[in-house]
Amino acid sequence: MEEIVEEVTELYKQGDWKTIVKKFRTHPNRNKVLWVFPTEENFKFIGNCMVKLHCEAIVSVGCGSGLLEWMITEATGYPISGIEVDGAWWHCKYAPPTFIPLLLTNQKLDKEIVTLLGNCHRTALLFCYFNNGPAFKEYLDKFSGNVLIIIGPGDGKSVHTDPRPFGDVPDQWILHESQEVESTKDYIAVYYRK
Ligand SMILES: C[S@@+](CC[C@H](N)C(=O)[O-])C[C@H]1O[C@@H](n2cnc3c(N)ncnc32)[C@H](O)[C@@H]1O
Repeated sequence: MEEIVEEVTELYKQGDWKTIVKKFRTHPNRNKVLWVFPTEENFKFIGNCMVKLHCEAIVSVGCGSGLLEWMITEATGYPISGIEVDGAWWHCKYAPPTFIPLLLTNQKLDKEIVTLLGNCHRTALLFCYFNNGPAFKEYLDKFSGNVLIIIGPGDGKSVHTDPRPFGDVPDQWILHESQEVESTKDYIAVYYRK
């Protein structure tokens, strides 16, 4: 196992998310487990947005290892479900560790996922470094909730995601608030619709 994966897994077992975010935010191999390591202030920001927008849970699409999702729950107390696309990757012996149970789906969304998205009252939909525009539109189409969180690179970061935190969200979504992750040019953008 890669050194960073081992260290993060050990800290996860100790419940020490604060050291994970401090230690690995700028680590060159951080993408092995997570693309963005938010600050403690960022987690507070997410928690405050959840309160202001009357949300009680999060569904995270393309959650990868689920490390971010586990840390959000540790830091804010909100429960999170993580969705990943099914594939040989998650079943092979080189698969990364997972920090929350994954709900697996086909690219064409499984019935259970469509049902979950249709029952998202008081639930926010999260995309972190998601990079599949057509799938993003499909998830959003099926989503019955009113809060959307996008984490990803802003202008000048020279990394591509789809959706980006700003500029890729349909018109009915209104920007509630956003916050940068330190000075990394990664942003957390929180939207709502009426
Ligand atoms: C760049 S990774 C980001 C992973 C994680 N959110 C992070 O920040 O570390 C994008 C993830 O989206 C997943 N993905 C792509 N298409 C998907 C789909 N249709 N449904 C669910 N997940 C999908 C990929 O398998 C991949 O794990």
